[in-house]
Amino acid sequence: MLSNQSADPAKRSSLHGHWSSRMAFILAVTGSAVGLGNIWRFPYVVGENGGGAFVLVYLACVIVVGMPVMMSEILMGRRGRRNPIATMALLGSEEGKSTRWSLVGAMGVLAGVLILSYYAVVGGWTLAYVFKSGVGAFANAGVAVVTSIRDDFLGSWVNLGLYHTIFMGLTIFVVARGVERGLEQAVRFMVPALLLLMVVLLGYSITSGHFAEGVAFLFTPDWSKLTWDTVLTAMGQAFFTLSIGMGAVMAYGAFLSEETSIPGSATVVAMADTAIALLAGLVIFPIVFANGLDPAVGPGLVFVTLPLAFGQMPGGVFFATIFFVLLTFAAWTSAISLMEPAVAWIMEHFSKSRAQAAVMIGGLIWVLGFGTVLSFNVLADFTFWRGTIFDNLDHLTLNIMLPLGGLLIVVFAGWVMCRNATAEELGGAGLIYKLWRVLARYVAPIGILFVFLKAIGILPELS
Ligand code: PFF
Repeated sequence: MLSNQSADPAKRSSLHGHWSSRMAFILAVTGSAVGLGNIWRFPYVVGENGGGAFVLVYLACVIVVGMPVMMSEILMGRRGRRNPIATMALLGSEEGKSTRWSLVGAMGVLAGVLILSYYAVVGGWTLAYVFKSGVGAFANAGVAVVTSIRDDFLGSWVNLGLYHTIFMGLTIFVVARGVERGLEQAVRFMVPALLLLMVVLLGYSITSGHFAEGVAFLFTPDWSKLTWDTVLTAMGQAFFTLSIGMGAVMAYGAFLSEETSIPGSATVVAMADTAIALLAGLVIFPIVFANGLDPAVGPGLVFVTLPLAFGQMPGGVFFATIFFVLLTFAAWTSAISLMEPAVAWIMEHFSKSRAQAAVMIGGLIWVLGFGTVLSFNVLADFTFWRGTIFDNLDHLTLNIMLPLGGLLIVVFAGWVMCRNATAEELGGAGLIYKLWRVLARYVAPIGILFVFLKAIGILPELS
């Protein structure tokens, strides 16, 4: 144990400082949760997986699995007050159990690095669209024009790589300076502004899109479209969009003050995150159907639909530019939290400065990112297992590593940590605590395991 740390977990203080208020923590976690997962990935995976049934499974996963995992991460982070690897080792030893639980933190650090390697490429893509919107490239553009702009952009690894580089540079810059600084103000402004622009877009979709068709696609379940593989994808999306299963929220929980309510914070974040994703769906699908597009086109979906909408609305150049600026910000605040566990670990474990750690980890992620950059052009035909390098990274991290990490985290909080410890963190042994405990001990672990086993075909189909 570090010498400046109390043996009493309630008195332990963070190695990196504290959030300035409860609001600061909620804002930081919201900044992590709201990002490309909501606006870029949610609509396209819904489109690829047939709509309503997928959405309902995703919502169920957020409530039944996502909430208990998120609460577990925050409580563990606050109790350990270290990077996720050290926190799990410390809490394990405090309970008289193995310190090997730190491996869960290690997997999370690795997941963060791998996810950011492609997240930064899409973040760069968003950034590039700020400039394209700004010069009016989408003004009055039809489907053919926006599609060719997208294909030209993705087709050039130099372009994609360039914007990936800029995006990574921006991320390293913030992480090197310290996560608390600036983040709070950025999120305080960005989330409401993003919400506002989404509402503007919604207005467009309602008036100019095939709104009823979009709503029906999003909310009318066609259960025949569902396979266990799509259920796994819905669960992976729930983990990804809430930033859970890899220790990012645990790392932020380490700065959280004792007084803040963990269930309350987790509920606010999950609701804000889900609302933004559903709003994105409500904006995008009416545009898809009004323009005769295929909902299942994949990762390019928002980069075609939204430019089309902006191109046709009054003030579109202005709105499009602001929108992509905000989306870049949203991606940026998420990217920071993807990097934070690895950086905190390098700092504490190798006694490096924050700036050194950020540059080391950021440099590694930047290099790995070229795997994804090339997946859209030079190596587009180089496919194995799930598809391109990008497809494989996506599947491995979101559908396997995050749920597995989440499973181990709830098992740790529900079974390894003693009742007193978790009750103290979650504000006593009332109804909410009991509910959390049932979810964390039984429902979430069994649910995750079941979906895993079904998806890999170990459990037989019932019908
Ligand atoms: N939740 C982010 C999004 O929806 O874009 C992505 C993310 C951030 C995932 C941080 C995981 C994480 F630790």
